[in-house]
Amino acid sequence: MTSTATAHPNIALAKYWGKRDDALIIPATGSLSLTLDVFPTTTSVTVSDDAADAVELDGAALAGEESNRVRSVLDRVRELSGRTEKARVVSVNTVPTAAGLASSAAAFAALATAAADAFGLSADDRMLSRIARRGSGSASRSIFRGVARWNAGTDDESSYAEPLAWHGPALAMVVAIVSSKRKAVSSRTAMRRTVETSPYFAAWVASSATLLEQMSDAVAAGDLETVGELTEQSALRMHASMFGAVPPVRYLSAASLALFDTVLNLRSDGIEAYATADAGPNVKVLCRSDQAAEVVAGLSAVIPDADYVVAHAGPGAHIVDGVG
Ligand code: PMV
Repeated sequence: MTSTATAHPNIALAKYWGKRDDALIIPATGSLSLTLDVFPTTTSVTVSDDAADAVELDGAALAGEESNRVRSVLDRVRELSGRTEKARVVSVNTVPTAAGLASSAAAFAALATAAADAFGLSADDRMLSRIARRGSGSASRSIFRGVARWNAGTDDESSYAEPLAWHGPALAMVVAIVSSKRKAVSSRTAMRRTVETSPYFAAWVASSATLLEQMSDAVAAGDLETVGELTEQSALRMHASMFGAVPPVRYLSAASLALFDTVLNLRSDGIEAYATADAGPNVKVLCRSDQAAEVVAGLSAVIPDADYVVAHAGPGAHIVDGVG
């Protein structure tokens, strides 16, 4: 009884930062993202007679906090399917883990999809989004292809992502990898610290609600310029809320800021490019597909040491080898 699923990372254009409920992972703000077509994670779940769940990531057994997160997804699938067996989970990332490249979004979306299938739970995408959310909030969005919006909601039932239609120019996301090192502070710890200590957190939450509505309207209108400008605002406001935490959380490095500056210069040269960054120093640049090569050329002229990967809108999580 093994089921295997694949999912891709997503990059938030309107960011999620801060939880209203830590256990259920109900976010303080809604968010909106683009699922990519690079760096997939493939996860197999086998229902087993073992006494405990076993989790392996990239060939090594997982313990501690990360395996607890896997267990909370498996527990939810067992609860919903009315089954009690344990599971063996084997997951392979194609992206450096925990480097702010959304490896956890892909991993938990693949896990939720494979686990539901392995345990015989017939779950629609909304339910899979709610299950994936228990592992990592951003994973709720990787269930869907392309542009997705995660409605914050107020409880397990109402907190899920859904796909949005995009009829604007074909999108690309240039990923500038300045570091593949594991981050020093996990997003979970950094979020909690921001919620508990940053005087800017309330302003972040209040301004995010307005920004999300503006961005959703711009997505519906296929308006890349507005989506892009709001993308930069959301990223910088999120990082500002962390700068205000005690002790401060600073994921952006000098190279990250140089990339943001370069993107601004590209815009003044008529290239539609907009920067964002997550819980790490790597920068992602939203642009038109037909201008992605110019964006890579412009960025690498300033930061030649980074690795550049051009991504496009990618598929939602899906079973590649199911039990049925
Ligand atoms: O879902 P987590 O715990 O990996 O947190 C994701 C947080 C950001 O990537 C920084 C923003 C986002 O919305 O994806």
